[in-house]
Amino acid sequence: MTVPEFAQYKQQGKKIAVVTAYDALFAKIIEQAGIEAILVGDSVGMVVQGNPTTLTVTMEEMLYHTRMVARATHQACVIADLPFLSYQVSVSETVRNAGRLLQAGATAVKLEGGDPVVDRVAVLTRMGIPVMGHLGMTPQSVHRYGGYKVQGKSQTQADELLAEAKALEAAGAFALVLEAVPAQLARSITQALTIPTIGIGAGPSCDGQVLVLYDLLGLFDEFVPKYVKPYARLKAEAIQALRQYKEDVERQKFPAESESYHA
Ligand code: KIV
Repeated sequence: MTVPEFAQYKQQGKKIAVVTAYDALFAKIIEQAGIEAILVGDSVGMVVQGNPTTLTVTMEEMLYHTRMVARATHQACVIADLPFLSYQVSVSETVRNAGRLLQAGATAVKLEGGDPVVDRVAVLTRMGIPVMGHLGMTPQSVHRYGGYKVQGKSQTQADELLAEAKALEAAGAFALVLEAVPAQLARSITQALTIPTIGIGAGPSCDGQVLVLYDLLGLFDEFVPKYVKPYARLKAEAIQALRQYKEDVERQKFPAESESYHA
């Protein structure tokens, strides 16, 4: 999946499936499933590092995870998140940090927000760095919202989000994540743009969907938003396997002959 293909998918009415990944093992599994794009999300801070927000994730950490994912990915488009403070301070820092993510193997970067980042999106695009936008409930602004809350419910907010979506498209964004917004608003934004919208908690009308891998696989159950559909229950399976292993060790059923070396 290349960056220009995102727009082609929309023109052809083909939906785009995106999943997050943070390491090579899962990147390979995702590719084998034929998923179009992998997002190295700063959600790594929550689901892997165990933090309550994404705000603590650093550029060095994003580079480390991007390298691992990119090394294992050959077909899917790898998009890497610009973490908190890597693009807020200045345009020049934004260009440097986005460029470093491309050097680590990403094909594109994602950053959060509307009006305050439109200038960054325009510069990065002109520099040849493809940018995915991210509007709605943008997790790096969690403290402004007072929690992980649905955005764009009032007409004023909805109008603002639509205007910001158009501005990001005009600045050159090749796709736009819409997170936790009413489905009707996501439909209006999707219809108003030529670039694809990728929804997460934004209803069925978006041009694609994205889910956090550990939510999708049922591995992370500390905080399960309404929009998450676990397609597997891997946490429960892992606990069951580990209990069985412990029992086998205690009862000396493991290792058996078949797991032992002989002279
Ligand atoms: O970091 C992330 O995983 C994301 C998705 C939730 C869109 O930004």
